[in-house]
Amino acid sequence: MSANLNSASKADGTSVEELAQAVDRRRNFAIISHPDAGKTTLTEKLLLYGGAIQQAGAVKARGEQRKVTSDWMELEKQRGISITSTVLQFDYGPNTINLLDTPGHQDFSEDTYRTLAAADNAVMLEDAAKGLEPQTRKLFEVCRMREIPIFTFINKMDRPGREPLSLLDEIEAELGLTPWAVNWPIGSGEQFRGVIDRRTRRVILFSRAERGRQSEEQVLALDDPKLKELVEDDLLEQAVEEMDLLEAAGAELDLEMVHAGELTPVFFGSAMTNFGVRPFLDAFLEMAQRPIARSGSEGPIDPLRPDFSGFVFKLQANMDPRHRDRVAFVRVCSGRFEKDMNVRHARTGKTIRLSRPQKLFGQERAVVEDAYPGDVIGLNNPGMFAIGDTLYTGTKVEFEGIPCFSPEIFSWLRNPNPSAFKNFRKGVNELREEGAVQILYDTDQSRRDPILAAVGQLQLEVVQHRLENEYGVETRLEPLGYQVARWVNGGWAALDKVGRIFNCKTVQDAWSRPVLLFKNTWNLNQLQEEHVDLELSSVAPVVSGVEPISL
Ligand code: G4P
Repeated sequence: MSANLNSASKADGTSVEELAQAVDRRRNFAIISHPDAGKTTLTEKLLLYGGAIQQAGAVKARGEQRKVTSDWMELEKQRGISITSTVLQFDYGPNTINLLDTPGHQDFSEDTYRTLAAADNAVMLEDAAKGLEPQTRKLFEVCRMREIPIFTFINKMDRPGREPLSLLDEIEAELGLTPWAVNWPIGSGEQFRGVIDRRTRRVILFSRAERGRQSEEQVLALDDPKLKELVEDDLLEQAVEEMDLLEAAGAELDLEMVHAGELTPVFFGSAMTNFGVRPFLDAFLEMAQRPIARSGSEGPIDPLRPDFSGFVFKLQANMDPRHRDRVAFVRVCSGRFEKDMNVRHARTGKTIRLSRPQKLFGQERAVVEDAYPGDVIGLNNPGMFAIGDTLYTGTKVEFEGIPCFSPEIFSWLRNPNPSAFKNFRKGVNELREEGAVQILYDTDQSRRDPILAAVGQLQLEVVQHRLENEYGVETRLEPLGYQVARWVNGGWAALDKVGRIFNCKTVQDAWSRPVLLFKNTWNLNQLQEEHVDLELSSVAPVVSGVEPISL
């Protein structure tokens, strides 16, 4: 980490200039994609440029990741919900890059939603043959809510893919995001010859290396006569024609629009052959947002605020099964964080000394001496942190919390053994606190069993497995058969006003707010048509200052 900054004048050892430099250098992002688009491969290649990959072997070998599902599940289950979700920090040129890695499996996308709350930029990775896929669309919606700048990498250009223009049209038509191609491909699949950088009008040629090997980059000017010997006329002509079409369409690469999340710079490449990855990284570093001011209860909190502040965006238990520990991931938002610092915990008002902060790199961990806005630190969490909690020094700040996202499967959690109730209760409450699963409750208080609400089946199974392994309770899952959840804006009063409603089940969340469960979107639409005044939301607003109900 950036421990080599000279300490200087101020009491906490950091001058305003040092802080400004550290912020200026930092870029932080998460990758959003559908499984198989190439996230692991791209991450590996990006780390290679930072020289980080040999150090830590942070990215799991694909072979390993692709083990038969049962093996993989076992591994995930033993380690908590998502061992693949950590932070990868590396230096590249003058920059310090934080890649907030997210779980590969879509059943754990709740984790990804929360990680996006800590990211300043997102890279949207598409498979050139498939274009936009369901998981990418969902994650994009989360980015849109937060207006995160999105950089698009269209991958697997070495394989037959869809027409590049149609891929851009799809982004525009379906996401309402203006695409701006930074480079343009020459041919595709077997006939992929490289890309033309639109801003410099230089061609980066692709040479087909053996599978998995790095392709060599040869760069020529578009008007260099040698190009004709290397690339077929018709392919080059077509690429230039298409590029001219884009120019004629007239959109400009407006950085303000990029930062507002309205325009996405698009890059074509092939992660597996490492083609186009370095130019992508360079352009990304040039255009991406630096760590930005984050909203707090008293207005935006600038990263250059000299006092430290940060928030917990993720909790993970048992990352290291030998220690049965719990780690809170904190995104640093302002000031300089230092080891052994005393900080205030905004929710409880307690002062905590952070004596063993960790830097997490894939599976590796090291004690961190300092950290700056945009960085992520891991804190040992003996139950005192919850997702969304703020830590600070100086005058009190409190960040906006992290909303709950709509779950898609629901199941009663039964405890067949009454003598194990204490452990059952402890386990359910702790796993909810950790964000491993959302808990809903029947409105009829006599039915005490909680309802587990998750994004994917595997998420439920992990909860069940952890209850057994960590709390010693065997449980039964009983599916409820609903697929859609909506929070009611206006709460119980709004719901009472519309009177009886049909084809949905009313339950309450941990903050006693009404949640409607529907069997399908058709039923949801029907209800909305019948009661146009009833406002429903797929994201639960953040609650602050109120303790959730426990089992
Ligand atoms: P994910 O993390 O998004 O799930 O995807 P991952 O990187 O694991 O990649 C999924 C598959 O796509 C892998 O193939 C990977 O090699 C391949 N891939 C990634 N980028 C490219 C690319 O630019 N071009 C081509 N042709 N393939 C690419 P696999 O056969 O499933 O695994 P493996 O046998 O390669 O390990």
